[in-house]
Amino acid sequence: MTVSLVTGAGSGIGAATAAVLAERGDTVICADLNEEAAHRVAASLPGALAVGVDVTDEEACDRMVQAAIDHGGGLDAVAACAGIEIGANALDLEAATFRRVVEVNLTGSFLTAQRAARAMRDLGRGGAIVLIGSINSQMALPGGAAYAGSKGGVLLLGRALAVDLAPWGIRVNVVGPGVTDTPMSAASLADQTRRSRLLGRIPLARPADPREIAQAVAFLTSEAAGYVTGAFLAVDGGWLAG
Ligand SMILES: NC(=O)c1ccc[n+]([C@@H]2O[C@H](COP(=O)([O-])OP(=O)(O)OC[C@H]3O[C@@H](n4cnc5c(N)ncnc54)[C@H](O)[C@@H]3O)[C@@H](O)[C@H]2O)c1
Repeated sequence: MTVSLVTGAGSGIGAATAAVLAERGDTVICADLNEEAAHRVAASLPGALAVGVDVTDEEACDRMVQAAIDHGGGLDAVAACAGIEIGANALDLEAATFRRVVEVNLTGSFLTAQRAARAMRDLGRGGAIVLIGSINSQMALPGGAAYAGSKGGVLLLGRALAVDLAPWGIRVNVVGPGVTDTPMSAASLADQTRRSRLLGRIPLARPADPREIAQAVAFLTSEAAGYVTGAFLAVDGGWLAG
């Protein structure tokens, strides 16, 4: 039985990941800052548990991991999907905004992975961790100093964790979604000018469904990816290829 913990599970890519992992038979722990949303998602999945967490808070991350182990009897897979996006031109970007975005996206991914990995080490049965980067892990869009800065960090964080955790059989990979149809991108996709500009850069000419990102997470947390660690898997309709 695979026990999987998903942060950011209350919405978008995290919610889709929780659903796809539950469909393959995992016991899923749905964690989110928005506890009500986490409960809503968990209630729709057989055997799932909802947990409130702020991924920037290390003690809350420890409590989340403990709750997962208490519920599932172990911890095999983690998908760190919690994230925020705040755009502003670098010349005007407030330091507090920059810090907040880095704190949630980069430090939050680190704390989630570190606290989960400590438990996986102690449990002694290995594991798989997937961080959610972005196409912005590899390139920047206007106004992306904070977001692309944080997501570039997530890419190298994933590689560093892969190296450090390999001796315990813990694999770490980074998924890089392109434009995905979730509440985070809703405003950009609803604005016709911004939508055409974005879709014009995507060879497949459409946004991703969040389940298409979730399927990549499912692969990377499966035995089929047993020799894959430290990888970056773009799921972007070809954006980075062009
Ligand atoms: N939507 C896209 O186009 C897109 C593209 C590339 C990467 N991503 C990344 O995918 C991930 C998921 O994004 P999404 O589109 O599903 O967004 P979303 O806004 O739909 O969901 C994000 C979830 O994270 C939760 N969250 C935010 N801060 C948190 C915190 N401190 N602690 C715990 N939970 C917190 C929110 O409550 C929300 O439920 C993010 O890391 C995002 O940067 C999204």
